[in-house]
Amino acid sequence: METLIERIDDTADNGDIFKRAGKILREGGLVAFPTETVYGLGGNALDPDAARKIYAAKGRPSDNPLIVHLASTEDAAEYCQTSELFYKLAEKFMPGPITVVMKKRDIIPITVTGGLDTVAIRVPADKNARALISAAGVPIAAPSANLSGKPSPTCAEHVIEDMRGRIDMIIDGGESEIGLESTIVKLDGESLTLLRPGGITIEMLYEVCPDLKLDKAVMGKLAEGERPQAPGMKYRHYAPDTRIVIVDSDDSDFYSFIEARSKEEKLGVLVFEDEAEGLSALPIEVISLGEHSLASQAHSLFSKLRETDNYGCDVFYVKMPRRDGIGLAVYNRMIKAAAHEIITLKK
Ligand code: TXA
Ligand code: MG
Repeated sequence: METLIERIDDTADNGDIFKRAGKILREGGLVAFPTETVYGLGGNALDPDAARKIYAAKGRPSDNPLIVHLASTEDAAEYCQTSELFYKLAEKFMPGPITVVMKKRDIIPITVTGGLDTVAIRVPADKNARALISAAGVPIAAPSANLSGKPSPTCAEHVIEDMRGRIDMIIDGGESEIGLESTIVKLDGESLTLLRPGGITIEMLYEVCPDLKLDKAVMGKLAEGERPQAPGMKYRHYAPDTRIVIVDSDDSDFYSFIEARSKEEKLGVLVFEDEAEGLSALPIEVISLGEHSLASQAHSLFSKLRETDNYGCDVFYVKMPRRDGIGLAVYNRMIKAAAHEIITLKK
């Protein structure tokens, strides 16, 4: 299949691109598009065949449900059973990087929800994403636009790498602002559970819902056979082919550890710019995560994880991230990329 690649020009009217993309979607085709979190791989959410094509293009197990993207929160009641707490969350955080799981209505095919009777609803803030949904005139089912298991795409080049030849169109809107997928919460009546941390932080959620619960898959490793509430969180995920290991230590112990290991194996590190200076004197590969901030770490994590595969290293070490704010989402993605391999060097 030939994949059309269309670049958004922020100084021009891109109406024609969205019009054509909308038509492809209404006719059952697939279009990858930018959002403020990561790129999505969109299909008509009311069309079970489009959902099947999405699973096939990603190589994704079909019990892993898709997020349904809407142009406006006002449309939500058409597709799921909303509640008072939903509108509270919507007022504070939508449009934005949050997805809410609620009981679905019959109009949403179970192919889209991986057989579940609930549906995940998200209203993205990105203006190109909303222009596309509006142009399509139907809700858009969209997982992240990566091959199953890979880090999510945060620019069109990543999508092209994974999806060219597998889908009808890719809309290139530049780099995703946040760089990690949306926060997912599940609403059960008026009870709220965090299934996946993201740009809307746990601290922000506690303000609206002090009784917020945490699914176990957010922080740690599930026992054999234990099921997370978001089916997607059970799979090995966000991982490059290169082995990733998290090191929990202070700066000087980290340096000594890397220095010692560099004599034993071909290794790399993923560190902030200011930490890279000292380490680059060692015979190792150094990938910089940019300026020393949580936002920059979130923004570049997936792109830098993809980059680790370019060096032929045995392993890349990363430092244990902070867990406040969006740091919790960084931590959650990192433990999955590292398949829970953590080395603790605490004295
Ligand atoms: O930021 C995002 O959320 C991006 C952009 C494209 O919007 N999308 C995204 O989709 O990350 P995906 O498919 O890669 O991740 C969706 C997650 C999966 O872990 C899936 O299991 C969970 O949401 N999910 C979807 N529907 C669900 C449901 N009804 N109940 C529980 N979890 C659900
Ligand atoms: Mg994904």
